[in-house]
Amino acid sequence: MTAATIAPISYEVKDLSLAPLGKQRIEWAAREMPVIRLIRDRFAAEKPLAGIRLVACCHVTTETANLAIALKAGGADAILIASNPLSTQDDVAASLVADYGIPVFAIKGEDNETYHRHVQIALDHKPQVIIDDGCDVVATLVQERPQQLPDVIGTTEETTTGIVRLRAMLRDGVLTFPAMNVNDAETKHFFDNRYGTGQSTLDGIIRATNILLAGKTIVVAGYGWCGKGTAMRAAGMGANVIVTEIDPVKAIEAVMDGFRVLPMAEAAPLGDLFVTVTGNKHVIRTEHFAAMKDGAIVCNSGHFDIEIDIAGLKTLSSEVRTVRPFTEEYRLASGKSVIVLGEGRLVNLAAAEGHPSAVMDMSFANQALAVEHLVTNRGRLEPGIHSIPEDLDRQIATLKLQAMGIVIDSLTEDQTAYINSWTSGT
Ligand code: ADE
Repeated sequence: MTAATIAPISYEVKDLSLAPLGKQRIEWAAREMPVIRLIRDRFAAEKPLAGIRLVACCHVTTETANLAIALKAGGADAILIASNPLSTQDDVAASLVADYGIPVFAIKGEDNETYHRHVQIALDHKPQVIIDDGCDVVATLVQERPQQLPDVIGTTEETTTGIVRLRAMLRDGVLTFPAMNVNDAETKHFFDNRYGTGQSTLDGIIRATNILLAGKTIVVAGYGWCGKGTAMRAAGMGANVIVTEIDPVKAIEAVMDGFRVLPMAEAAPLGDLFVTVTGNKHVIRTEHFAAMKDGAIVCNSGHFDIEIDIAGLKTLSSEVRTVRPFTEEYRLASGKSVIVLGEGRLVNLAAAEGHPSAVMDMSFANQALAVEHLVTNRGRLEPGIHSIPEDLDRQIATLKLQAMGIVIDSLTEDQTAYINSWTSGT
């Protein structure tokens, strides 16, 4: 671990000598992030975030690096911490410190105590703006540092889990500043949650296990946007997909998308591979492990490591051994074994590199523009959860299409008049 202060920045990363590889990979990701590049260039010229103390709590990846570079170009006094103990790319963390002068506190595999210490370091920065992914910084700030709340201009939230927590905070009357709901922007969840999670989850599973997906029975727990993407891509690879749900509407949607829908208790003996993407706890628990086939593989792609009851699995097991990186075999007293990937943490970030840059381009364009929106509207936004303004969503989609060289139609005058009138019918 390299923990130090090199004038003028503090940092805590695994090894600064990894920086050259990290820089190469950050630049590679930038090729697929044209929208962030445009925002970075505008930010560099206009400095909309000049002097703003900003904390970003995100997965420390090549994509996040490009966001952080754009925020710094905009004048932000930004520091970066990990939003998950197992998702940090150590070479990227090193490069951000050594090549871009951005303070980073993140080490892949850090323990929970270190993770929470980094959250405290982030709060010591006295953030005016927070970019959160899962709401850990905001929840800690509200619970432990109420004296800092008057400084806070607002937060942005990246993920469904964080939005669920912010809604609970709002209900409890403790959300005293505006929170921009990046997750629900169309250019975020339609792409990142669906195509990003769909691809990167399978990527993580394949890198961890090298199994063939064709012909396997894959049980996808949860049919939100992440579940839809995972099920769709697994089916595309030739797997037989079973979906489990608790929401009747989503369950019908899964049925009409062509998937079998079963309760987990019935799916447990059928699955070769299980992926949880529900956002809720103990979706796979002891009675399910006990019913699984010998060698069944379980993993999670939801934000927190609570979906698979690993503690419960341990109580059933006589032995645990690492059989490949991020792949652990639990031998049950019954003689069967269950394989757990990435310790039940986000498999796409633990065992692979997270969502590809091209989708994170749009997610992080939303983040950058949401931060700018908070700062330019400082003092004017009510406390509470705010949608990303529709024009920002459209702007991001337009820029992405332009970057992809795709041209679309526009309405004729006649069509515009028609769509705005109510007088003409049959
Ligand atoms: N969340 C999912 N994939 C990600 C990535 N590549 N970078 C940052 N956050 C992510």
